Amino acid sequence: MRNKVTKAIFPVAGLGTRFLPATKSVPKEIMTLVDRPLVQYAIDEARAAGIKEFIFVTSRGKGALEDYFDHSPQLEQELRKKGKDDLLETLKNTNMDSGEIAYIRQHKALGLGHAVWCARRLIGNEPFAVMLPDDVIAAEKPCLQQMVEAYAETGGNMVAAMEVPADKAQNYGVLDMAEDMGAMVSVKGMVEKPAAGTAPSNLAVIGRYILSPNVLRNLSKIKSGAGGEIQLTDAIAQEIGSDGSGVYGYRFRGQRFDCGSKAGFLQATVAFGLARDDLRDDLETYLQELMTARKAAE
Ligand code: UTP
Repeated sequence: MRNKVTKAIFPVAGLGTRFLPATKSVPKEIMTLVDRPLVQYAIDEARAAGIKEFIFVTSRGKGALEDYFDHSPQLEQELRKKGKDDLLETLKNTNMDSGEIAYIRQHKALGLGHAVWCARRLIGNEPFAVMLPDDVIAAEKPCLQQMVEAYAETGGNMVAAMEVPADKAQNYGVLDMAEDMGAMVSVKGMVEKPAAGTAPSNLAVIGRYILSPNVLRNLSKIKSGAGGEIQLTDAIAQEIGSDGSGVYGYRFRGQRFDCGSKAGFLQATVAFGLARDDLRDDLETYLQELMTARKAAE
């Protein structure tokens, strides 16, 4: 019987330079999308997929992220006293039980692969998920849950994949497909940030992975790759078997927002705002007025 995926690594040790000056004191992962920090979306998605242990790879200056997961008895007491049951429930849903969450330091930002490797001792010899909270995915069935279900059939290693325009492929890890089976593709190669015009396909890897512990062993031996960083893609690619098994891309159903970029974050804010019953009408009216005024000014 295949091991269940119950552990997830959240690499959040990056510098977040694209959001300076905000990220000078606020970790990118707790920046707010509507009314929840980015990381809460990732946690909720992980829970829905059956994750029980949450391992954060952090760095200097991420104290506010750790504090976010603390219980807040004083605040809870106040809300209880004021009869604000809805808010109390919202707050309780963010609580983590003792022992559910662990923090590991990445002492130097040597790349995503290195960040994942830092958590190796907490993973041991089990398959595990990696989630990048920057990638927020709106989906009827949460993305990682879709992947865990697909993984139950295939085993091996699985990466979330989506089609991107050809001129954007150079920003991603890109899959070289062996066989395209629809939602699932088997992979014969992976390239991190291919030079313009050299991408083997337009199927790009985004921030959800289910990996075998072999990938951690590969990371122990890997030298820095694209951009001088230790690349997770390179360690996953080493698991590709000669028969095209071992690594699968999974075309998830849903919309991914790149909240690591300013444009992506703004788009997500509008999309998630419009999806909310309490905000939709006002926001829609405002957007329509804005567009009308812009057209009139042209
Ligand atoms: P990014 O490429 O988005 O880098 O990392 P970044 O530092 O977060 O942001 P910019 O580019 O400077 O604006 C993708 C993910 O990998 C993590 C990041 O925290 C983010 O979740 N990461 C990256 C690490 O944990 N350690 C690293 O050394 C590099």
